[in-house]
Amino acid sequence: VVEKSDIRNEFEMELPPRPELFDFHGVSLTHYITDNWENLQNFQARPDDIVIATYPKAGTTWVSHMLDLLYFGKSSPERGSTMPISERVPFLEFTAPGQPSGVEAADKMPLSPRLIKTHLPVQFLPKTFWEQNCRIIYVARNAKDSVVSFFHFARMNMAHPEPGDWPMVFGSWYDHVKGWWEKKQTNPKILYLMYEDLAEDMGLELDRVCSFLGLSLTEEERCKMIEGVGFDAMKKNSMTNYSTVKVMDFKISPFMRKGKVGDWKNHFTVSQNEQFDKEYQKKMTHTTLHLRTEI
Ligand code: A3P
Repeated sequence: VVEKSDIRNEFEMELPPRPELFDFHGVSLTHYITDNWENLQNFQARPDDIVIATYPKAGTTWVSHMLDLLYFGKSSPERGSTMPISERVPFLEFTAPGQPSGVEAADKMPLSPRLIKTHLPVQFLPKTFWEQNCRIIYVARNAKDSVVSFFHFARMNMAHPEPGDWPMVFGSWYDHVKGWWEKKQTNPKILYLMYEDLAEDMGLELDRVCSFLGLSLTEEERCKMIEGVGFDAMKKNSMTNYSTVKVMDFKISPFMRKGKVGDWKNHFTVSQNEQFDKEYQKKMTHTTLHLRTEI
């Protein structure tokens, strides 16, 4: 638990106030997500749009950067190092005063296919994406690392409530990963990836992504891609490390924090881990989804 005083800093005056979390149709959200709800639900998808859907901290930026390089890296090699990831892959449901909403940004995107990021639970995805039969890449990350990563992220990102204990904007992690998993069972347009697999064998996962998207890479392109989406490369790159974003306080934590599987072991006490495992077993009994929690 972090005391409020721990996160005071000299930038604080310039940072926006923390938003409240509230229940929105059974999911905890903030005004950054609900303020543009009507426009969001009326969004017009195009059949070739590609959605990157995740619960926060599952590797959204990782896969977003990968897809952007796959589609546009050849024609504009400078793009990945000159254009922030938030412009290359707009955050659909996000809206903040004084900047274009995710919906507006996506509407104005000149390139095809549009790559669009969302953290929405499956039931909230605007129906246009289903009607247009768009391809969706979902990324899940094991619950314990997700919660640790989210905790650090919420401390440094003023668009989230201050984490006293472990908070969750976008509702329950369980509902999110299971909801998208169930949808995937009947929709072949959804590819379900896992952070731990990306970390273990990026080459293999890249091949799966390419085959899902109908793309192919030369051996040289494949090697370059694996290097370009590596943790160190993305941490150094100001277009992927979010250092250009005003709402985050990097004195508290970097966005590209550790990028490790199993960092939860440095944060959970034995008793927290036991409680978590009990809860996990209860919540994950009636699903065929298996995430690698014990690594
Ligand atoms: P940590 O906080 O555990 O370091 P998201 O983009 O969904 O917000 O996820 C952010 C998490 O993914 C952070 O996790 C970040 O470090 C990690 N991440 C981002 N790019 C990565 C990469 N190339 N390799 C490994 N992890 C990466």
